[in-house]
Amino acid sequence: MAKRIDVSGLNAYYGSFLAVEDISMTVEPRSVTAFIGPSGCGKSTFLRTLNRMHEVTPGGRVEGKVLLDDENLYGAGIDPVAVRREVGMVFQRPNPFPTMSVYDNVAAGLKLNGSYKKSELDDIVEKSLRGANLWNEVKDRLAKPGSGLSGGQQQRLCIARAIAVEPDVLLMDEPCSALDPISTLAIEDLIGELKERFTIVIVTHNMQQAARVSDRTAFFNLAAVGKPGKLIELDDTERIFSNPSVQATEDYISGRFG
Ligand SMILES: Nc1ncnc2c1ncn2[C@@H]1O[C@H](COP(=O)(O)OP(=O)(O)OP(=O)(O)O)[C@@H](O)[C@H]1O
Ligand SMILES: [Mg+2]
Repeated sequence: MAKRIDVSGLNAYYGSFLAVEDISMTVEPRSVTAFIGPSGCGKSTFLRTLNRMHEVTPGGRVEGKVLLDDENLYGAGIDPVAVRREVGMVFQRPNPFPTMSVYDNVAAGLKLNGSYKKSELDDIVEKSLRGANLWNEVKDRLAKPGSGLSGGQQQRLCIARAIAVEPDVLLMDEPCSALDPISTLAIEDLIGELKERFTIVIVTHNMQQAARVSDRTAFFNLAAVGKPGKLIELDDTERIFSNPSVQATEDYISGRFG
């Protein structure tokens, strides 16, 4: 079966600093892959190489290949803006456009990408909000500012905004770390539903969360501060949390790290 994502020999730099080194891995379509590992091991950096956001950082540079459905995202003639439409991103802190209404937040990406009739936009906004499990809570306040929602609602609004443009892949960098436990569970349930339509890669510091939501788990580590982060082990989540192949993985998941 074709891999949705196929990374080989990927290095990511900030200036002359090699932050992640020689990563090769694949991701299956319609699956959830969790990235775990200690702070500074390059999880966010690597995640951002998967939709060409790393190079937006001053000094950010990438070597190697990232194939999305067999096409190299770093190949000649590839438009990074188009890549970011195919590979959406949800951040740690919910970041709705503060002056925009709930409706316009969801429609923002669509309006950039083409012209839609009002009725088409209405349908997509509703479908996306339903997809993000937020419709019932906001259907009577679509014209109110998105920034007036609770933190958990704002994060689901950002997910609705991300899925409105129908990406292939959804990247999530600690999407629950600013949320209360109930909102966290709502997002986790949502991830379970979204994987029927999207391929999801999620960074999390919460081991229970990785175990609950993901099919496969990738453990990243770094030998010492200032050294590059590396992918240590990628396997079925059940296996990583019960019987990993590498001692460092075992040490990390059992809290004997450092
Ligand atoms: N904008 C930047 N400029 C220079 N170095 C950076 C930048 N962002 C991150 N780094 C460095 O790159 C390395 C990897 O950082 P990254 O944020 O990817 O780690 P992480 O695994 O996501 O950590 P955390 O779990 O704390 O979020 C670290 O050494 C970090 O200091
Ligand atoms: Mg990070």
